[in-house]
Amino acid sequence: STQAELKDATSSLLAEAGASGRPALGLVLTMGALHAGHAALVRAARQASDVVVVSIFVNPLQFGEEEDLNRYPRTLEADLDLLAECGADVVFAPGVEEVYPDGGPMVRITAGELGAKFEGASRPGHFDGALTVVAKLLHLGLPAGDADYRTFFGQKDAQQLVLVKRMVADLNFPVEVVGVPIVRDDDGLALSSRNRFLSEAEREAALVLSRSLAYLRGQAERHEALDIGGALAMIDSAPLVQPDYLEVVDPKTLEPLAFNCRETPFTGEALALVAAKVGPVRLIDNVQLGY
Ligand code: PAJ
Repeated sequence: STQAELKDATSSLLAEAGASGRPALGLVLTMGALHAGHAALVRAARQASDVVVVSIFVNPLQFGEEEDLNRYPRTLEADLDLLAECGADVVFAPGVEEVYPDGGPMVRITAGELGAKFEGASRPGHFDGALTVVAKLLHLGLPAGDADYRTFFGQKDAQQLVLVKRMVADLNFPVEVVGVPIVRDDDGLALSSRNRFLSEAEREAALVLSRSLAYLRGQAERHEALDIGGALAMIDSAPLVQPDYLEVVDPKTLEPLAFNCRETPFTGEALALVAAKVGPVRLIDNVQLGY
């Protein structure tokens, strides 16, 4: 639907829901090629909201020059089927011209220091582009009348989730950001739209990412010192896998932990983040420690 249709559809659905008290709108932002990870966000939104809006937009602004914008999978028909099954009320799938009528915004969001680390270090400008479109879409989804407004993001993209929460807090967006746990395949691989580009051998090799995180999680659960070197060695020795980073950080700031979790028994809460190239595909994963 177009922006005007989005407004009309959500307004009338909210008005209906509002007859029995203050209504709630849930917004899920996606780039399509939907899988069970996205479905979990829509279901979480469905549970918490009277009206569920899902956007599908492959945002050119968050792809680097060398990246896979043109190869990014586009599966609109299947996406619409999945969204109908999960109970989405409104799907907003605008074209590039509608989102960026003048070739892209002159004024943009900058993700700052937090956006320059980890994924941002490998993908310069990625989070500026992602936050800029998230800001636009959060504004487009804003309920017209009196309503609760929540948006649902996957913990799969941990740095993105932290940054969206920071943007919303730092710039006073009138929306609550809700994190939804990572959905994995039975073998542990975190679902990703890019997994379809893995060969069978690469997919098998990619399992080392979730295995190395599970190794750290086990140590955290037993309150042992974390063997981060060992976890990295697991990834290093896997065929077809080129590690980028594996780090244990503060879950809110993504700063290195104040205590040395390599030397000291693990306590508190942390996030283990990993990224690697597996064949042609860059994959990320993470696990919460101490929750
Ligand atoms: P996309 O990669 O399509 O992801 C959309 C949402 O689905 C994100 O919040 C992401 O964290 C969540 N998600 C993806 N895989 C998941 C999994 N296995 N388990 C749980 N959640 C998962 O992230 C983006 O699009 C874009 O950057 C976007 C926010 C739409 C801005 O363009």
